[in-house]
Amino acid sequence: MQSTGAIVAEQLVKVYNGKVKAVQGVSFDVPPAQVFGFLGPNGAGKTTTVSMLSAGLRPTSGRAVIDGLDVAKEPERVKRRIGVIFQESTADGDLTGRENLEVAAGCYGLSRAEGRKQAEMLLEHMQLGDAAERYAKTYSGGMRRRLELAVGLVHQPKILFLDEPTLGLDPQGRAGFWGFIDGLRRDRGLTVFVTTHYLDEADTMCERIAIIDHGEIVSTGSPNELKDRLGGDVVTLTTADGGRDLTEALRAVPGVSTVQRQDGRYRVKCSSGETFVPRAVETISKAGVGVTGVTVKRPSLDEVFLEFTGREFREDEGPTATDRAVMLQRVQGALQGRR
Ligand SMILES: Nc1ncnc2c1ncn2[C@@H]1O[C@H](COP(=O)(O)OP(=O)(O)OP(=O)(O)O)[C@@H](O)[C@H]1O
Ligand SMILES: [Mg+2]
Repeated sequence: MQSTGAIVAEQLVKVYNGKVKAVQGVSFDVPPAQVFGFLGPNGAGKTTTVSMLSAGLRPTSGRAVIDGLDVAKEPERVKRRIGVIFQESTADGDLTGRENLEVAAGCYGLSRAEGRKQAEMLLEHMQLGDAAERYAKTYSGGMRRRLELAVGLVHQPKILFLDEPTLGLDPQGRAGFWGFIDGLRRDRGLTVFVTTHYLDEADTMCERIAIIDHGEIVSTGSPNELKDRLGGDVVTLTTADGGRDLTEALRAVPGVSTVQRQDGRYRVKCSSGETFVPRAVETISKAGVGVTGVTVKRPSLDEVFLEFTGREFREDEGPTATDRAVMLQRVQGALQGRR
């Protein structure tokens, strides 16, 4: 049966040198125009999976289907429809930024005029306009990263694979990058498969996430679903009538695990604050009591990750927590109105 997904992995397996089991039966299906996040600790098998999906590495077994094409049977057609940006640098330092883009456009068979147009547009979007005529080897790390992102987009791929695309970018660079990608997703229906070590980035940008550990997918879902699976939003409800005890009524709401009461305040642990709050307000109102305050605390994706892999991300090269907070704010600012 043919799947309609833009990216389909069916029981993908990769064993290196007959012994390193890097990927052990990974399956998923990414619909068109979705941003799909692939998270996992170092060595989990993320890059190996991206390589198999993008016709760079032959699977030991299993099948990858991209835009309806079997990757093993039609690797060249697949390559023309996808953009791939790998962890390691691929830009040519002895060419200028603009030349890198125009050469890449030529390799994909774009006309010179079209290549020039794409190069101009991408240089602008990646904030490389001023550095366009400089050799790429004179670029800073972040500029080179942005150039590589531009190169990966030059042939207007339908599907984009990004292996840690924002590593080494400053908050502005990351916000700009994601704003641009999101625009392509909305305007052109670009499908994006992204590995990242930045969980806040995944939380904001990805509609769906798979967590991989030791070559196997340990959990899949939207960021919210994954958090729900931890079984632990904490909702604090403040009521106007401190005398009435509503503990039992709240405990009867589906998804609630514990209710603690202190005067007119209730601390409720539930599977999803989003679904609990309206029901709780209804329950309390029915009892003739007014609700004066509600706060919902969700677990972060970091906690989800820890729960499923038992490990924390190592962020040796990553920015500090402050950097990430600033970045997140900017990304959210840039995306206002998206949801
Ligand atoms: N060419 C190779 N030959 C042998 N083993 C390899 C090769 N490439 C990767 N591996 C091994 O396969 C496993 C998965 O590696 P992979 O690069 O896919 O992990 P990753 O999830 O991308 O990690 P990171 O977060 O560090 O980038 C690791 O144990 C790695 O050592
Ligand atoms: Mg990797």
